[in-house]
Amino acid sequence: MAHLSVTLCGLMMKNPTMLASGVLDETGRSMLEVAKAGAGALVTKSVGKEPRQGHGNPTIVELQCGLINAMGLPNPGMEIYAAEVKEAKKGGVPVIGSVFGGTEDEIAELAGLMSKAGADAVELNLSCPHAKGYGAELGSTPELVESICRKANKQVRIPLLAKLTPNTSSISSLAVAAEKGGADAVVAINTLKAMAISPEARMPILANKYGGLSGPAIKSIGVRCVYEIFESVKIPIVGVGGISSGRDALEYVMAGATAVQIGTAVWTEGLDVFNKTSREIMQFMEENGFESVKDMVGVAHPGRN
Ligand SMILES: Cc1cc2nc3c(=O)[nH]c(=O)nc-3n(C[C@H](O)[C@H](O)[C@H](O)COP(=O)(O)O)c2cc1C
Repeated sequence: MAHLSVTLCGLMMKNPTMLASGVLDETGRSMLEVAKAGAGALVTKSVGKEPRQGHGNPTIVELQCGLINAMGLPNPGMEIYAAEVKEAKKGGVPVIGSVFGGTEDEIAELAGLMSKAGADAVELNLSCPHAKGYGAELGSTPELVESICRKANKQVRIPLLAKLTPNTSSISSLAVAAEKGGADAVVAINTLKAMAISPEARMPILANKYGGLSGPAIKSIGVRCVYEIFESVKIPIVGVGGISSGRDALEYVMAGATAVQIGTAVWTEGLDVFNKTSREIMQFMEENGFESVKDMVGVAHPGRN
């Protein structure tokens, strides 16, 4: 009998879909709704040490092919957010706590705090393209990625995931660095640095000028990144970027992803996207003689199909 369950770094998931960081994960209650809607795991919004307001409005531009966001990592700070993690755990699916920080020590400390708050794993956001001094500004250098992962790893016993930026000439070098630093998995991709301009106003639409592009426009880039990373590392990969259907998820899985995250499509299509994606993956497996998702991981690579 075909089944959808997957194991990611020892975490059991009833299906390979996960909520991506930053969408409907502001509170424990909203994450519980996502769990109820069929997500196999939840990733929290990225949380820092101190409360942070984020950027001024407008923070989102809607395009035909996706979204550009420049939220600027708004969050209440780890001390307050710990309660939301505890609440989200009632959903009965793994909760992965996403953290960001301005220095290696701060990121490592936050990883430890996220673990104490009860998260089942920690995702290091090394890839936000629109927050000065954070995210991609730290995560674009392999040496820094390696040492951040090494420091964070010392603070936690739970699995450590490193979320990588595609805004680089070689995402696989970043993945290799994360693996060397002791990350248990990598997550690819965060958003691509982008902007939109209003011709009438003759100015950028986002108050922050630049933001991160997500949604259907970036799916093919995400799939390419996962494919390249799969050829460079042994640790599992979580695929994210533009997924809104079973076929999208299957592209990522066959490129090498063990599980997938969904962000923008939750916004554009609603919470049913998790069940729909799982249903469509299952239908494909039944029609094509696959018994488990694991059997499809990386099969698009030569010699594996
Ligand atoms: C509104 C919004 C907020 C986001 N906030 C975060 C965040 O706090 N941390 C993070 O690691 N990624 C964040 N992301 C990136 C997503 O987790 C994901 O990597 C990216 O959007 C690509 O997936 P998608 O096309 O399914 O949205 C955000 C994305 C959006 C659209």
